[in-house]
Amino acid sequence: MSAKILITGATGTIGKSLVKQLQASKVDFIAGTRDVNKAQTTLNLMEDQCVKFDFTDEKSFERALENVDRVFILGPPLTFNLDRILKSFVDYLNQKSINRVVYLSAFGNESLGGDLAFHAIMESYLKERNFKYTILQPSFFSQNFKNYEYENLVERGITFNVAGDGKVGFVDTEDVAKVAVKALTEPGHSGKTYQLTGPELFSYHDAAHLLSDVLNKKIVYPNPSEEEYRGALKAGGAPDFIADYMIPIFGMIKTGKVGYLTDDIEGVIGKKPTDLKTVLERDFGK
Ligand SMILES: NC(=O)c1ccc[n+]([C@@H]2O[C@H](COP(=O)([O-])OP(=O)(O)OC[C@H]3O[C@@H](n4cnc5c(N)ncnc54)[C@H](OP(=O)(O)O)[C@@H]3O)[C@@H](O)[C@H]2O)c1
Repeated sequence: MSAKILITGATGTIGKSLVKQLQASKVDFIAGTRDVNKAQTTLNLMEDQCVKFDFTDEKSFERALENVDRVFILGPPLTFNLDRILKSFVDYLNQKSINRVVYLSAFGNESLGGDLAFHAIMESYLKERNFKYTILQPSFFSQNFKNYEYENLVERGITFNVAGDGKVGFVDTEDVAKVAVKALTEPGHSGKTYQLTGPELFSYHDAAHLLSDVLNKKIVYPNPSEEEYRGALKAGGAPDFIADYMIPIFGMIKTGKVGYLTDDIEGVIGKKPTDLKTVLERDFGK
């Protein structure tokens, strides 16, 4: 039996696309998830294509890595000090000499400090060990509007973030998954770091205009202060840590840290990245 790829975060935004693309290319993989039954149904997978996997449960590592020679590592969202959760898994891979990994990091992460410095810490951790790593640094996902702002957009007519007037090149997660497929299945990507952006820079003012067009209703970007943002999240019942996490993340846009484009997607997949409008039309059904 040929060795296969373990996909962590397989049920998430990038993971789902990656699983679909690997299925279409008939590449052997196994999807790691904390809930095998649910994942089998949502991803439409056979029993032997899913395995119980939890970064916080070392007992799940051995079985998940049976007959695996490559791993896609994607850590869960909204987790401070994510490196503390991921390191034991990376240590385990190192111990088992599974050294081909594709790590999902984030564009601009080097500007984040303290308990948000986890992607920079993990990138160094992989580089300092015996890994044939590929690091993917995607920009803010175009899919965030659907995943994280659906109610704001559809019910309240707003996109509510603390990004000031800054700009960012939203990236289609399907493009990120395409790059991951190449990195996992073709030679020539080891030791590389790819910065993955969409083709255009948008402020949230620009995004609100585009969303108004796609949703066929007025969408406004109120450009809230940090205080207003914090207050609105609290009033909506969100725990305080969400604002603590998101304010510095959006701060990267506000301060221009992610305000530039790259051509790494085209360089790897040979095709221009998908623009925000196309993803919004796909997600909001125009
Ligand atoms: N959103 C953005 O704009 C953006 C931009 C750049 C980078 N990123 C990075 O992308 C990652 C998150 O992406 P996302 O927001 O789209 O989330 P997501 O991938 O949609 O969802 C999280 C995934 O994490 C898995 N998960 C949660 N807890 C886990 C655990 N303890 N062990 C193993 N798997 C676990 C979930 O799997 P199960 O529930 O099936 O176990 C799910 O598949 C983060 O690392 C973030 O830094 C995000």
